[in-house]
Amino acid sequence: MSERLFIFDTTLRDGEQVPGCQLNTVEKIEVAKALETLGVDVIEAGFPVSSPGDFNSVVEISKAVTWPTVCALTRAVENDIKVAAEALQYAKHPRIHTGIGTSDIHIKYKFKSTREEIIERAVASVAYAKKFVEDVQFYAEDAGRTDNEYLARVVEAVIKAGATVINIPDTTGYCLPSEFGAKIKYLIENVKGIENVVIATHCHNDLGMATANTVAGVIAGARQAEVTINGIGERAGNTALEEVVMTFRSHPELNIDTNINSRRITPTSRLVSSLMNMPVQPNKAIVGRNAFAHSSGIHQDGVLKNKQSYEIIDPNDVGLDENSIVLTARSGRAALKHRLQVLGVELDSDALDTAYEAFLKLADRKKEINDDDVLMLAGQHRKKLHRIKLDFLQVTSGVGLQSVASVGLDISGEKFEACSTGNGPVDAAISAIKNIIRRKMLVKEFLIQAINKGSNDVGKVHMTVEHDGCSYHGFSANTDIIAASAEAFIDAINKFAK
Ligand code: KIV
Ligand code: ZN
Repeated sequence: MSERLFIFDTTLRDGEQVPGCQLNTVEKIEVAKALETLGVDVIEAGFPVSSPGDFNSVVEISKAVTWPTVCALTRAVENDIKVAAEALQYAKHPRIHTGIGTSDIHIKYKFKSTREEIIERAVASVAYAKKFVEDVQFYAEDAGRTDNEYLARVVEAVIKAGATVINIPDTTGYCLPSEFGAKIKYLIENVKGIENVVIATHCHNDLGMATANTVAGVIAGARQAEVTINGIGERAGNTALEEVVMTFRSHPELNIDTNINSRRITPTSRLVSSLMNMPVQPNKAIVGRNAFAHSSGIHQDGVLKNKQSYEIIDPNDVGLDENSIVLTARSGRAALKHRLQVLGVELDSDALDTAYEAFLKLADRKKEINDDDVLMLAGQHRKKLHRIKLDFLQVTSGVGLQSVASVGLDISGEKFEACSTGNGPVDAAISAIKNIIRRKMLVKEFLIQAINKGSNDVGKVHMTVEHDGCSYHGFSANTDIIAASAEAFIDAINKFAK
């Protein structure tokens, strides 16, 4: 019988820290419910003291999910812990996740402190958290670069203070797999009381080794893996849930398994990608569009003769079901609602009406509406709340022609029009919009991506716009990529032109 590896999902805390990927409370609840259906053991729902929005999300997620543990992050600060406990009051299984930096760099520069004082603060924070909840997880931030002997002293002290889970983060994604595995082994062999707690890995991907380090940590004895869907997270991201789960499923000889329903991996990946407007790279392991696409003739031939020649995972096992392309212009509102529910999205009646209206328009232009399109449509109701909306857009462009755009905007019900030339159709459209909204705005990033394939496909546009020293992220999807670009620009403007 396999040993159980607990999956601690931090998509809604560490993952959500990515600029431009912030979710509102309703969206976070959607993701939390999808994580519950996926079978994660712990949902890290937020950092309550950081903002009222995060506090509220932890409260609402605690009410919304039933069996996973709901965890809230704190620093080793009494007020953080008190606020986290308050946010967790409705959780059926609450956990406080408190901790402090333990590497010499953190101790010297971040805390201007000493090793002894850090141990005292760590112990005090765990003891204080224990006054509110039984389940207290301690993190030793930058454990990856912390001297093992000192780390063992910290860990032993917080176990004595009552910690139930010990998190060993490789915060900067610095470790080699052999080094990270050896660190976990060292703790297991040198810390008194370690057998009474669960050791967790929390790896970042700065050197592309987050999954390798996590797997090495688990093989060495860790029994909780901290992960995010699609590996999202600041910088190069966190360990990807799907990679860890499928590594252990694909290697039964390791005798380690999780509670994850792997068939929910693809729908959950798409839901998170769509809600966060965060595209998944096509060659991403397990959930990338090309993860199971065999293009070379030799591989295709091999797969047709026997799938296992070139596939180590059956795509159906991760919920990739090509038959899920089910909706057409003749599908009704109920069919759309059902497909959304399968994908983990519940819309209220107004939002469903908006999505269905957009669905009919899209189905007119594109024969088959697939899951990615459906998830994109689910976000349409958010645009209805915008103060500034694109009323019309007409663009002339072509080889040997100057691009010209005419734009109509609806700003709180008032109509404005302008036109402009540009060095291409997108530039002309943006400059026409700037002729109406006369603020200093600079497009810092501009990404166009097709959702699937085919020239009738929907293009997704991500745009980062700088205004007044701050960056605002806009997103849109449209079969017309010039319109999608203009809409993404307007989406970003709506975030500061309130
Ligand atoms: O990377 C890290 O060290 C963290 C901790 C706060 C757990 O995210
Ligand atoms: Zn982290």
